[in-house]
Amino acid sequence: MPHDTGLFSGRPSELVGKELAGYRIEQEIGRGGMAVVLRARDLNLDRTVALKLLAPELARNDTFRQRFIHESRAAAAIDHPNIVPVYEAGETDGVLYIAMRYVPGSDLRHLLDARGPLPLAAATRIAAQIASALDAAHEHGLVHRDVKPGNILMARGTDSDHPEHAYLADFGLTKKSLSLSGFTSVGQFVGTLDYVAPEQIAGRPVDARCDVYSFACVVYEMLAGHPPFRRDDDMALLWAHQYDEPPALTGERPDLAASVDDVFARALAKTPDDRYESCRAFVDALRTAAAGGTTAGHPATEVDLPVVEGPGRPPDPPRWARPVFGPAR
Ligand SMILES: Nc1ncnc2c1ncn2[C@@H]1O[C@H](COP(=O)(O)OP(=O)(O)O)[C@@H](O)[C@H]1O
Ligand SMILES: [Mg+2]
Repeated sequence: MPHDTGLFSGRPSELVGKELAGYRIEQEIGRGGMAVVLRARDLNLDRTVALKLLAPELARNDTFRQRFIHESRAAAAIDHPNIVPVYEAGETDGVLYIAMRYVPGSDLRHLLDARGPLPLAAATRIAAQIASALDAAHEHGLVHRDVKPGNILMARGTDSDHPEHAYLADFGLTKKSLSLSGFTSVGQFVGTLDYVAPEQIAGRPVDARCDVYSFACVVYEMLAGHPPFRRDDDMALLWAHQYDEPPALTGERPDLAASVDDVFARALAKTPDDRYESCRAFVDALRTAAAGGTTAGHPATEVDLPVVEGPGRPPDPPRWARPVFGPAR
């Protein structure tokens, strides 16, 4: 039975400089609901990595632990330019960890928070990269299950034709494997319901098409500035994913052709059978439909999209991390 280590009971400054499984922790770079992401030094190969430490309560969940190891291995086997390369995944002293490429830059969540709706050209460039990553994963029999802006890392691109490079991160790390929607053992909700597919909510088996749905929610948000469904509480949001039609994107983006709405209606279909068969097919249809629209004079159509540096102010720490990240005394 894994047990907690002292790693989760000190303050951030105490984490820095610690060694774990051959990595020396240098700096905290971000945190989500159930994990801390750190910049660390791989002491064997002498290179910088991103080291993700998962909350001890996840390690205590056998189903999660087995799937984490299995899917991390599967993800590590995919060699794709838009998937964050996984170097190693394992468990040490009751802590599940994953070492991956350190991606300097930001993530799509922070980019959207800073920029609002993106120009069509930038949105489709990013979408095409992530679609390619998802389709490759699906061909390997992997379903991501947690496609959301926070799991799309944004680095600088190579040249003006490729101004940004998008990476898909976090295979096999979804909290949704624990239960319906990420309620922890203490009944605390972590994560977001903005991108969850109807069949995930219903607890039905999921396949690649659940990623098509979540991905379409993300692409919708890149263009509208908000996800397709917005409700005051979680229950109403779950209901909307299950039963409500997504609002027409062209209501907010009159610069886009009306046929774009048909593309989103299909990508966000309630029944998986009615959706596009791949993420790439969805993006191709979106591009074709959008090409029929006029982009003249719309303020959000300029092409330049600087990558926002740094993740900004991190959110409040989750309950399990409070002893680590609480205010300095
Ligand atoms: N490989 C990486 N390289 C650089 N930064 C990363 C990497 N993976 C994650 N991050 C940063 O750490 C933050 C926290 O990640 P995570 O715990 O997965 O939370 P979430 O996906 O819920 O936002 C991310 O938003 C991102 O900015
Ligand atoms: Mg993540």
